[in-house]
Amino acid sequence: MTTLKYDTVIKNGLVIDPALGFGKKAYVLIKDGLIAGVERETAALKKALKNIPEDKFIDAENLLVVPGLIDVHVHLREPGREYAETIESGCRAAAAGGFTSVCCMPNTNPCIDNQETVKFVQDRAQNCDARVYVFGAITKNLEGKELSEIGDLVSIGVVAITDDGHYVQNPDIMRRALQYSWMFNIPVAQHAEDEYLCAGGVMNESFQSTRLGMKPRPAVAEEIAVLRDIALARITGARLHFQHITTKRAVNAIRLAKKEGINITAEATPHHFVLTDDEIGREFNTNLRVNPPIRTAEDREAVIEGLIDGTIDCIATDHAPHSEEEKDCEFDQAPSGMIGMETCLGLVKTYLIDKGYLNWADAVRKMTINPARIFKLKGGTLAVGSPADITVIDPNRKWKVKAENFRSKSKNSPFIGYQLSGQAALTILGGKVVFKR
Ligand code: DOR
Repeated sequence: MTTLKYDTVIKNGLVIDPALGFGKKAYVLIKDGLIAGVERETAALKKALKNIPEDKFIDAENLLVVPGLIDVHVHLREPGREYAETIESGCRAAAAGGFTSVCCMPNTNPCIDNQETVKFVQDRAQNCDARVYVFGAITKNLEGKELSEIGDLVSIGVVAITDDGHYVQNPDIMRRALQYSWMFNIPVAQHAEDEYLCAGGVMNESFQSTRLGMKPRPAVAEEIAVLRDIALARITGARLHFQHITTKRAVNAIRLAKKEGINITAEATPHHFVLTDDEIGREFNTNLRVNPPIRTAEDREAVIEGLIDGTIDCIATDHAPHSEEEKDCEFDQAPSGMIGMETCLGLVKTYLIDKGYLNWADAVRKMTINPARIFKLKGGTLAVGSPADITVIDPNRKWKVKAENFRSKSKNSPFIGYQLSGQAALTILGGKVVFKR
């Protein structure tokens, strides 16, 4: 039996790989789960493909072929809240959203602050529809009091540390976390909201919170948190990543610190570049309750500016599943968080690309090579020898967000009913199709 030169060939697609500076119609060649080539159609290529049977070809005519998308901020809820999501269901949602890799947050029960729990998550993630990278906790049980055994966490494979959901309020502990992370060469990812200023707050402090009589989480809580940590990153030289940035002043502070050469990066979520706090008073939809909160139109514009000029490096979802029972209550009683992996691509296309803020290459960069470089993850590119993690996107597919179509176990999305354009058509993980629409 002769072995085939390629296992799968994706033909006719517009291949966009920002890492390679590539944006052309081309063939993507896959062999043994790896990228074997990205090539323009030539006589030599046609000859090389002559013996490949028809069923090994995927026709991507009118579609985009990009490196598998990476989401560096998801809550998979396992262990502890499997009714809301499991690692398996979260990975199925990821694949449907076009993500081939996700980074899961440590606010599980038990918390991911020890080797056993990391190992548990890694074991459960085997054979799922996406690669799962683990962020370990900065402090034990996310309590902000005592550092986790960071060396132990790194040696078992965590790619970053975070207390996501909580700000590391004690600056001495944060400083030491940065020093350790510098020694181990991993980033610290920070949920930057000062906890004293946010205490009990459920929405952005603004005209709207006053009108609605809701306890506020002010923008200055994010600004102060970011400024303090920029100062700590400056003196430690450590790699600091700001999670879900939402305010104009935080974006400005990060922009200036980057100009100074401080080792920081940042992400923004679709809900913060699409929504404003005006939405909340309409129906008190508890799916709009999220930390950090949805801000004003001015903040939203600043986040978009930050995405445009590169101040914000990544688009991440903060996919945070909660069950229907948990969200079926008054706005200020609901847990914070919304799911996001299955709507992300459509929101990016409809609200950033169609509006002329980003082109496809810029958007793909923020969901592939940028996160891969920051957290040292596999993939993020179609370079030869990379894992064959590939997302095929139908850029103009019009679709309506419907609760019944989510693959996530939870349906807590404020975007249900939205009409979007652009969606993943096919997701390939290590050369295998894990999702096909
Ligand atoms: O709204 C949020 N929900 N923000 C967080 O930081 C945590 C997340 C969760 O775990 O539900």
